[in-house]
Amino acid sequence: MLVSYHRVDELGVITINNPPVNALSHGVRNGLLEAITKAQADDSQAVVILCEGRTFVAGSDISEFGKPIEAPSLPQVNAAIEASEKPVIAAIHGTALGGGFELTLSCHYRCALASATVGLPEVTLGLIPGAGGTQRVPRLIGAQAALDMMTGGQKITARKALSLGLIDRILEEPVEEAALAYARELVAGGTGPRRIRDMSIPADSFDGEAFAAYRSMLGKRKRGQESPQIIVDCVEAAMAKPFDEGLVYERACFVERTQSEQSAALRHIFFAERQAPKVLGLNKTTVPRSIERVAVIGGGTMGGGIAMSFANAGIPVTLLELNQDGLDAGLTLIGKNYGITVSKGKLSQEQAAARQALISGTTDYEALASADLVIEAVFESMDVKRQVFGHLDQVCKAGAILASNTSYLDIDEIAAVTSRPQDVVGLHFFSPANVMRLLEVVRADKTADDVIATAMALGKRMGKVPVLAGVCFGFIGNRMLRQYAREAQLCMIEGAEPEQVDGVLTYFGMAMGPLAVGDLSGLDIGYKSRQALTVAQKGDPRSYVIADTLVEMGRLGQKTGAGYYRYDPKTRARSTDPEVLAVIEEQASKYGVKRRELSDEEIIDRHLMALINEGFRILEEGIAQRPSDIDAVYVHGYGFPSYRGGPMFYASRRGLKAVYECVENLYNRTGEAHWSPAPLLTKLVESNQTLEDWMANKG
Ligand code: COA
Repeated sequence: MLVSYHRVDELGVITINNPPVNALSHGVRNGLLEAITKAQADDSQAVVILCEGRTFVAGSDISEFGKPIEAPSLPQVNAAIEASEKPVIAAIHGTALGGGFELTLSCHYRCALASATVGLPEVTLGLIPGAGGTQRVPRLIGAQAALDMMTGGQKITARKALSLGLIDRILEEPVEEAALAYARELVAGGTGPRRIRDMSIPADSFDGEAFAAYRSMLGKRKRGQESPQIIVDCVEAAMAKPFDEGLVYERACFVERTQSEQSAALRHIFFAERQAPKVLGLNKTTVPRSIERVAVIGGGTMGGGIAMSFANAGIPVTLLELNQDGLDAGLTLIGKNYGITVSKGKLSQEQAAARQALISGTTDYEALASADLVIEAVFESMDVKRQVFGHLDQVCKAGAILASNTSYLDIDEIAAVTSRPQDVVGLHFFSPANVMRLLEVVRADKTADDVIATAMALGKRMGKVPVLAGVCFGFIGNRMLRQYAREAQLCMIEGAEPEQVDGVLTYFGMAMGPLAVGDLSGLDIGYKSRQALTVAQKGDPRSYVIADTLVEMGRLGQKTGAGYYRYDPKTRARSTDPEVLAVIEEQASKYGVKRRELSDEEIIDRHLMALINEGFRILEEGIAQRPSDIDAVYVHGYGFPSYRGGPMFYASRRGLKAVYECVENLYNRTGEAHWSPAPLLTKLVESNQTLEDWMANKG
């Protein structure tokens, strides 16, 4: 029984029970309609809607979007509830999100536990609230607040919701008892139904100009995304049209959204994030190890960010640096970063202080003896890492997990210096580690299953998206990035200017272009790592000579005020630099490259195909478990636009045959081995299969 109806004295109680999150599937909608109809027919005086399990309705069933909608639709259910002659009260615990919150808006009163949250996160799925949200919320809280809530998509605490006027009462636990008491109070007071549809939108001076300004702000903040603008259309309609006409307009927009490419991509990412921590073939009975205390070695930007990630999850951390000066600098940097978070209003002073208090410092390896997990974030050199792991092997307790944050190096080789390779794993964070959600969990040859299970559970506990990767140079993300970065260099030497390369890729939706990223992180990093390679290992000189020349000219990127661009010392605004164009021309002629005009389309295709072709290799080698894992890596670690679903999703939507032809053309034109179509791509195209078919066969 997904929905049941029973009487408690003078009250009718509708209970939804659809684990895990009480999503509004077709069966639930049907059950709700039946139950509210039944409640009209008996002599109950008010109706309470509540949910079993860990949460109130967390939304419509996302897996039903994109398919034909089976009646009754949610707006039909909501209309029946709102029309009830008896007051209907929604009792919220956990989260009331999306369609779940819209369901409560069709009720006449809303009460919630203080621990509950509400919200309309449809925008994060490329959708809009489609069951009255865009019409009812402005009537409750005004256009501006409604726009902020729906275009932001964030959850709101029950107390905030009460202060805004979204809910009517905060309840004490247990929810059912308190909600019934509230309903009895309403009945005793003779309070009848109060329908939001009958309310008018508060006059809060939101007019045509304010809407235009809001749209323009969203155009910058939500660059490339369609849904935020459509939410504005719907709120404008709410102000201009009678309620029922506004509802019809909203519904038409919603249905169109469910069919959109952006929504398909964002729904794919929603499920990709939730699939990623599931490790194929791992025994379900594997018990993760307990992690109560963590240590981080290295107090630089990366180590400090990792320490903050643990403290933010309430886990005490010890930060180790080799000397007191380094330690002081590391702890000061952490304090500064928390200060910035407070100044942005994201944390209160007390919250920041409590988190910072969880981070202590040491210069003594012996202090790591009680840690359940130690992560090193020291200089990226195999010799240094081996030395660190040698120390850890001596001081850490039995069963402690020893992790490396290396971006490229061979974890098997690192594990081999310890007497306990089964406890060694890669935990690759992305900078800034306290912000970026991706966590690559690298399984080495001998890593124990319970270590992998622990890493996945811990990643989720920290609010990260943990993705399993196998050992290879650069794992999933950086291995693909090398191919992408190569194309940026080649496009420049062949004829594009830095602005064109970065401009085209940011237009595609990347958070930043590859060359601007290089300037931000420092061109010396790549330079130094290339210096350690032989000429043969470095590969085609055309793919690095421009970068090397700039570094040798002292142009290391933003930190020196110049890299691929010139930066204003005060505003950091970037501009084209004729000096760079001269370097490009000079290197092109030195290497016999005849520069030509590159189309925007060619630049996009080369960068994307470089990612995708390598992605197929990574899949076939088993370095990534599934195509959607690669997508999660690129969206959460590399600024790939979530509304395009990640490189592998993009490849599927474009069609594997079209992708194959594009890669093959590049191969035929350049003769470069890296452009030979990946064997898995070729195989799938020849057998007319999709990536889903391949996943299903992999079983
Ligand atoms: N429709 C279908 N499935 C859903 C769902 C929805 N609206 N919300 C969650 N699920 C599924 C998840 O895919 C996951 O399935 P799995 O166990 O097979 O992987 C399961 O429910 C648990 O979700 P998860 O996110 O892992 O649990 P959580 O406790 O961390 O978070 C929520 C719970 C409700 C906060 C979170 O799931 C969420 O934000 N859901 C989406 C809410 C939303 O966008 N609603 C608007 C839709 S209109």
